[in-house]
Amino acid sequence: MSTLVVVGIQWGDEGKGKVVDLLAREADIIARFQGGSNAGHTLVVGGKKTIVRLIPSGVLHDDKVCVIGNGVVVDPQVLIEELDTLQQQGRLLDPALLKISETAHVIMPYHQAIDVARERLRGEGRLGTTGRGIGPAYEDKMARVGIRFVDFLDDQVFQEQLSRNLQEKNLYLGEILKEQALDYTQIFDSYRRFRDRLAPHVTNASRYLHQEIVKGRKVLFEGAQGTMLDVDHGTYPYVTSSNTVSGAVCSGAGIAPQHIHGVIGISKAYTTRVGSGPFPTELFGPEGEKLRRDGGEFGTVTGRPRRCGWLDAVVARTAVRLNGVTSLALTKIDVLSGLPTVRICTGYAYQGQQYDEVPASVHVIDRITPVYEDLPGWSEPLSDIRSLDALPLNARRYVERVEQLVNVPIKMVSVGAGREETILIRPTFF
Ligand code: IMP
Repeated sequence: MSTLVVVGIQWGDEGKGKVVDLLAREADIIARFQGGSNAGHTLVVGGKKTIVRLIPSGVLHDDKVCVIGNGVVVDPQVLIEELDTLQQQGRLLDPALLKISETAHVIMPYHQAIDVARERLRGEGRLGTTGRGIGPAYEDKMARVGIRFVDFLDDQVFQEQLSRNLQEKNLYLGEILKEQALDYTQIFDSYRRFRDRLAPHVTNASRYLHQEIVKGRKVLFEGAQGTMLDVDHGTYPYVTSSNTVSGAVCSGAGIAPQHIHGVIGISKAYTTRVGSGPFPTELFGPEGEKLRRDGGEFGTVTGRPRRCGWLDAVVARTAVRLNGVTSLALTKIDVLSGLPTVRICTGYAYQGQQYDEVPASVHVIDRITPVYEDLPGWSEPLSDIRSLDALPLNARRYVERVEQLVNVPIKMVSVGAGREETILIRPTFF
């Protein structure tokens, strides 16, 4: 197996960053294929915390090539800030170690302005976006007015596209959203500086990945967000604006389907979600508070407190099928320590009907009753445990029950944020 896709099987924040960082040891190349700087992947190595938003989470390993695929929407300012920070730490000093697809779309200031203004106008009905311009950038891509890196590199093409788009966006911002118009020269000048800085990294990433896969080099595809935030398969409209499922690797990195060799699904041992939208197993009392506190459940990008709840096997089952998950990593099981009982949702009931997968209508999801299975909890802290056998009996039973319910082998259990705080059950992944 020379390629592996890492996907979140909940609503994002499953701990994909940590898993990618670990798996990157075995990989030669790590590639993002969707999303943008709405993602925030936290890496803890040697007690030091690094947050990456656009650059793949394998960046803390020397000499791995990081690729930003065409399916990603790139905020150049955020990318440069991230690059600066990593370069100050001695990383990515060789431009060949970071490749940006020439057909990835560029996030423009009007995307962010529109995202934020729309959310403000929606008031209580807001989607709870990260306010990074992700939705408006994907809208422009589909409307065929987006600016791709290849266009951005060409002064004349960029000027034409920017002035055409800005005319329309300023009208929309001013007349409909009641916002200030944006200034052409200011955008053009700052974006020209961004372009000069990023130009050495821009390349035909699809072709590069193909050539490397054919040579047998190992490629890890790093998903952002989670399956329930997928624009087609998630809890629409409370989703992000890209396809987050494993199949999106083909379109978002430009590789052929036969080059996807394995899919690892990442799930927290409980569930969290940020932003609005249905969440059947959400906890509102002290148990939810405990998960938030002990799990440090506050958004990496926005700092918002995350909503917390029990593990939902209905969500996991749906996501395993959609992604073709071949193995699972269960993260943050240490956070469950101290609960007398841990619950897993095994099905949904609604109007006399049972659901074993997530229904399409958010109105139905909002009204379902979760069917729970209760398991005895454990009180011991788990962060120092490095083997399944050393887990307290009830914690081991919990892991085994999840494996049964989801019907996929669990290869890794994470017991803390640090790279070393991991139980590797089946040590090889590729
Ligand atoms: P957007 O992607 O900023 O448009 O936000 C749409 C929805 O996806 C909101 O509910 C966000 O909170 C959620 N979201 C976007 N990115 C992430 C992520 O990386 N982790 C968790 N939730 C996310």
